[in-house]
Formats: sequence, C-alpha cells, structure tokens
Amino acid sequence: MTAPTISSQQVSDMMDELERYGQAHVLGFWDRLTHAEQVSLFAQLSSISLPELAALAVQQQTAVDYASLAARASSPPAVQADGRGAAWQVSEAVVRGQQALSAGQVACLIVAGGQGTRLGFDKPKGMFPIGPVSGRTLFQLFADRLIAIGQRYGKRIPVYLMTSPATHDQTVQYWEEHDWLGLDPQQVRIFCQGTMPAVDCETGKILMTSPAEIALSPDGHGGALGALRRSGCLDDAAGRGIRYLSYGQVDNPLTQLCEPSLLGHHIFSGSEMTTQVVRKRHPTEKVGNVVLADGRVQIIEYSDLPEDAARRTDDQGNLVLWAGNIAVHVFDIQFLQSMAHQAEALPFHRAIKAVPYVDADGQLRVPDKPNAIKFERFIFDLLPHAEHAFVVEGKREQVFAPVKNADDADADTPRLAKQAIVLLARDLLSTAGVAVAEGVQVEIQPQFALDVAETREKLSGVDLISSDRYFSV
Ligand code: UTP
Repeated sequence: MTAPTISSQQVSDMMDELERYGQAHVLGFWDRLTHAEQVSLFAQLSSISLPELAALAVQQQTAVDYASLAARASSPPAVQADGRGAAWQVSEAVVRGQQALSAGQVACLIVAGGQGTRLGFDKPKGMFPIGPVSGRTLFQLFADRLIAIGQRYGKRIPVYLMTSPATHDQTVQYWEEHDWLGLDPQQVRIFCQGTMPAVDCETGKILMTSPAEIALSPDGHGGALGALRRSGCLDDAAGRGIRYLSYGQVDNPLTQLCEPSLLGHHIFSGSEMTTQVVRKRHPTEKVGNVVLADGRVQIIEYSDLPEDAARRTDDQGNLVLWAGNIAVHVFDIQFLQSMAHQAEALPFHRAIKAVPYVDADGQLRVPDKPNAIKFERFIFDLLPHAEHAFVVEGKREQVFAPVKNADDADADTPRLAKQAIVLLARDLLSTAGVAVAEGVQVEIQPQFALDVAETREKLSGVDLISSDRYFSV
C-alpha cells in the first residue's frame, strides 16, 4: 500500500491553524522528514483539537471549591462489609448477582492502557508476573477468574480489554501468543483508547518526542467511555444482551470482577453506577473519598480534601468520609450508552509529569524534573452523572492490593500484592479446614476453587499444607 499524499494546500492550511494557536513549531522539522514521517505527523496533528488544547493548557486545575463541597459532603448511600445499610440481605444480593451471571447479562471491562511509569516495568503492566507461587501475570490472573466464573455460571463472560498506543501491540501479541489465556477469542475484544498531547507546563507548547512525533499520552482511564463507543464495544455488548459491565483496573490483582454480591447490590439498589470501596485506614489516607454531596455520589481526591473535613465524625464517633475509592465499579450498559454520547462531559485533569522532548535543534532532552502537563479523564467522574449511584464496602484484604510502585517503595508494590494474594489463599484454606504451616506460600487458581465450599470439596482429607503450593487445575 502506498502512503497517502498530502497536498501543499493541506500543509499550508495546517500551518495557518497551528500559527493561530502558537503551535507552529511542531512543523519546524517538516522539510527534513521522509514522506512517511510527514504523513504520520500530519495524521497526528489532524487528530488534535487545537482550540480544546489551548483552553485546557491555560485553564486552572479546577474551578470547584472543594473546601465548601467537602463541608457539605456526607457518607454515601452504602452497604457495609457486614451487610448493614441495605434493605436486603447480602445472601439475597448474591443470588440476584448469580441470576444475572447465569442469564449472560454480565460482561467485564479491564483498563490496561496506562504507561505504568512508577512501576518501571518495560512491558505493559498486565504482563507483570504477580502470582506469588505460580508466577502468573496480572493478565493471566484476570483471565483465570473470568474462566472460573464463566464455568460456574455456564456463560462465557465477554471481556473488553482497553489498551493505549503505549500498550496495544505488545498486549495483543501477548494474548495471541498465549492462546487468549484460555478464554475463547470470540469472548475477548481488545480496543485502544485515545491520546492527548503533552504540553510544556510553562509555555503550553506541544512537546515532540522526535522531529516527526508529537508527545502523546493515553487520555486517562476515563478515556474508556469514548473508546468503548468508537470501537463498537458498547454496541457489541448491547447486541450480546449484556446489561451490566463489571469494571476493574489491570493493576489490582485482587479485583473481584463479576462478583455476584457486588452485582446483586448494584441491581437491588437501582443504581446506574456502583462503586466498591474500602474503609479508609485513617482520615487522611491518600485515596479518593467517595462521598454524597448535593444529592450526588462523587469523589473528592485526598489532595482536595481539607483536614477538618477529613476528620469529621458522626454522633457515634465514626468517620463521615470513610469510603476510599479502589476503582472497582459496576455500570449499567444503558447508562454508559447514554453517557457515551456526551463523553466530552468528563473533564480533563492535569498531571504535571516529566516528559522527554526534542528542543528547537532536534536534540532529545530528558528532563530531571516535571516539565509537562498531561491531560487525563477519570472514569469515576461518571459517578455524579448517575441518577442513582451506590457504594459497596469490600474488605481491603480481599479486594485491594494495587501494583503501582517498584519494590523499593513503601506502599502499593508487587511484594505487598503477592503477600496479599498469599494471605487471602491462606485464609480461604484455613476457613475450609486446611492448615497452612508458618511461612508457607500458597496460591489458588480460581478454576481450582473460587470459594470456601469449593476449596473444602477439592481438598477433603487434606489437613496441612507444609510446603509452597500452587493449587491449579
Ligand atoms: P494509573 O493512574 O495508576 O496509571 O492507572 P499507570 O499508568 O498504571 O501508572 P503510572 O501513573 O504511569 O505509574 C490506573 C489504571 O488505569 C489504567 C492503568 O492501566 C491502570 O490499570 N489506565 C490509566 C488506562 O487504562 N489508561 C490511562 O490513560 C491511564
């Protein structure tokens, strides 16, 4: 196939537009580029809305008065981990969720488009080996759970996996080479999210990573909304009769995708978007706070939450803003369909990051401190758009062990996530009546056993595990 040609008129029009927005420097190397490079750069530039970028670059971080929002905020409508707070029993929610799964009404969305800069792993984060005994990757852990759930409820769970240009090719190659990780390829759709240019934080000028390439970064997990629509995945889900979408992020190996009780709570509460939370460890813990304010469930980031609001307690001395966001959600497909037409309604947040760039001489510069603004949408900004939203408390040790940082950090490391996986397996085994000797590492593949009852059945007659074991099929 020959590369498309670009007329001199098109280039001149593009130059006029760029000059109008003070971005003409991006064509500074044009005459030195090969034809293919010119075509590629032109395509990148054509996909950028310069007026939008100009507005974002000068806009203040936010116009919201968080101090006053936090003062008005109360605890969100929620069912607590012990079942309090709901007009139905947890056991009823489990049955309701199971019905939805058996009826084939549930699909899942895993977002895996992030660049994973903090972890410092040179492949997509989903390929990170996290199984403490098995060495299985994050992608494999997710697939294992979905296979097990599908088998139990007799329905293949459609999987929508979001990548970004930073992770797409390697992710697709990995899934193909590993036989779709045991899932039916018809069940999996890998789709790519959009990007946003990074701009210099002093001047607002678009950064280039080479004379022919703009510095583009994924447009945030909130980019999933637009990408689901553009890729046809939302229509695909609706066409398969899906009513509920279980959402998780690839970097939390404890994510309980398609968990019956979570689905049941979502359905019984009549919610359009339900979010699973954990109880904060202390008032100022660095997690997003899920709150009710102005009649809407919404998130106030820890950095926006004044300390007095964070420390507020009720008559019984309980923290009012207790619910910490862990980025596990359930969406009504209808809600996503209606919101997808206004994907632009999700605001861009600004993150100041270090982004390598080429200078006016075409030399690559690697900054040692943040020099750029990246623009990202957040999926949780959908919460206040939901007519009804609901919150379900999960026990932290069962649902949340994010892999964000390399092992030399204090929190959110692979080492801690592996520990959490082992602890969960030890707990399952001991509840099932199987003792595990001190210091022994255990891991359970979901296809082997998803819960205590299955563990007990599979290991009847076993009293003690005395060496490291991966229980798998
Ligand atoms: P984070 O915001 O923690 O970012 O993503 P990250 O890219 O994984 O890591 P850092 O900040 O560069 O170190 C949380 C989840 O959202 C996904 C990530 O893949 C991860 O599962 N995500 C993030 C996307 O899918 N797209 C994005 O644009 C950003």
